[in-house]
Amino acid sequence: MKAAAVTSSYKRWAPVYDTVFGKLLNEGRSRAAARATARGGDVLEVGIGTGLALPLYGPGLRITGIDYSAEMLERAEEKRRAHGLDNVTLRQMDAGQLDFPDASFDTVSVMHVLSVVPDPERALSEIARVCRPGAQVLITNHFAAEKGVLRLAERMIQPLQHQLGWQADFPFERILGDNRLKLLERRPLPPLGVMTWAVLERV
Ligand SMILES: C[S@@+](CC[C@H](N)C(=O)[O-])C[C@H]1O[C@@H](n2cnc3c(N)ncnc32)[C@H](O)[C@@H]1O
Repeated sequence: MKAAAVTSSYKRWAPVYDTVFGKLLNEGRSRAAARATARGGDVLEVGIGTGLALPLYGPGLRITGIDYSAEMLERAEEKRRAHGLDNVTLRQMDAGQLDFPDASFDTVSVMHVLSVVPDPERALSEIARVCRPGAQVLITNHFAAEKGVLRLAERMIQPLQHQLGWQADFPFERILGDNRLKLLERRPLPPLGVMTWAVLERV
């Protein structure tokens, strides 16, 4: 995805995003929020979008949410206010250029974002930099199927990536290239296993 395509695509998605992707993708969000809450401390949510996960985090965390799209962030700000979440800070920022010092966070959640950002390897490098040693990176995403009908469908819709706002044909291996981030967990998410839950640990 190119940066300009991300901006225009999520400007279009922002007003209807919660209706289309709210419940549909909530399994991964709930799992990430529960894990982050159990770990405590400082949480960074990269590509927070309209803030659908915000009400799912438990109390006692310091949460920072960043996103590139002003229109998506406006919706997140509405939720922050509506739920009285004084522990949440929202900032417009590029995942590939995080404006935080090294070793700032205990948990980073990256939900449905890595197949959207223009340069996922760079985003993961930045995430590794801002993680404290032992921090966990909680990822939910759709990754390319290895075979079958789903694989065929992904290949067919891949040319529409700039209209859709994400890459359908995004291999899992692309999240494994940074040697500061070690794979801890990988499993399909219910109900259909189309989304994957993965946890990387900062060594
Ligand atoms: C599919 S939405 C996911 C939103 C949210 N995480 C969720 O689970 O609903 C992808 C989000 O990534 C954001 N995004 C794309 N490229 C980005 C970048 N380079 N830096 C920060 N956010 C980015 C988009 O603006 C959009 O809000």
